[in-house]
Amino acid sequence: MSSKLVSAPVSRSTDVFRPDIFKGKVLFCTGGGSGICKAMTEAIMHHGASAAIVGRKLDRLTESAKELSQATGQTCLPTQADVRQPQQLKDAVAKTIEKFGRIDFVICGAAGNFLASIDGMSENAFRTVLEIDTMGMFNTVKATLPYIRASQGAYIHVSATLHYKGTPYQVHVSAAKAGVDALSAVLAVEEGPRGVRTNVIAPGPIANTEGMSRLSNQAGSKERPYPLGRMGHLQDVANAAVFLFSDAASYITGQVLPVDGGCEHMRSFQLPYPQSVLDPESVKHMIRPRL
Ligand SMILES: NC(=O)c1ccc[n+]([C@@H]2O[C@H](COP(=O)([O-])OP(=O)(O)OC[C@H]3O[C@@H](n4cnc5c(N)ncnc54)[C@H](OP(=O)(O)O)[C@@H]3O)[C@@H](O)[C@H]2O)c1
Repeated sequence: MSSKLVSAPVSRSTDVFRPDIFKGKVLFCTGGGSGICKAMTEAIMHHGASAAIVGRKLDRLTESAKELSQATGQTCLPTQADVRQPQQLKDAVAKTIEKFGRIDFVICGAAGNFLASIDGMSENAFRTVLEIDTMGMFNTVKATLPYIRASQGAYIHVSATLHYKGTPYQVHVSAAKAGVDALSAVLAVEEGPRGVRTNVIAPGPIANTEGMSRLSNQAGSKERPYPLGRMGHLQDVANAAVFLFSDAASYITGQVLPVDGGCEHMRSFQLPYPQSVLDPESVKHMIRPRL
């Protein structure tokens, strides 16, 4: 018997959580000028927080900060810094403290990516991605930790799922994101006793992002099988960030939360999908009888 594919609904965090849960809080977000990190920033601002967004391109940051303020009614400060430069990050943190007086939440999301085989990748290209993703996270934690200790706040680090298996053409990002996951685990144990929480969000393929448009054929991605019936939406990742910063997650630290609609568990799926789960009769001939 066949049944219809059900797609997960896309909900807004404000439909689930009170709109004032982050009132008076301040977010510092690297990579917040675009894509996934901008969507997370917007969701957190929708719950009452102010924010500072960090990136290298001041014109884009300024434009994004204006959009975020208009969309949420909260203040957003554009702060230019390259996460590979510790002093630039310290200056961005100082500007944030000067403007808002505190930092409660940090998102480490700045990242770089491109497709290249090991054979075709220069040492410099490999190093650059590790410097932005992993060293950038380390530098951001170092620059913000005194303020996060003071507020007993929380970190979210943006990782990926591709390093759980061997993903071709992604050796640089795989190594970098494995480092991100490991650093967050250590941070959880070292800083937990001071009231600081840290977690990782690992997005799967998220539609309408720079990452997806640069790395894959969008049309092909949409046709891929997704256990929850669709590609990830920016709002899905934003909702996870709201949850992890909220008091509802006050006993959650050192964890990695994939937001991928179950895709990671599909990697070795051999049967036609979703046909094989929607209509088991159609694949009966392919399944060995029970022993
Ligand atoms: N898109 C996906 O489906 C997907 C899947 C898995 C994981 N992720 C992760 O999600 C995060 C966001 O990805 P996205 O697709 O939304 O890409 P994106 O829009 O390109 O976001 C990357 C951001 O990082 C900033 N950045 C890059 N290098 C920087 C540096 N050296 N210093 C400071 N900021 C820097 C960029 O701003 P500037 O250029 O202005 O510096 C940009 O705002 C990344 O961590 C990515 O690895 C994405």
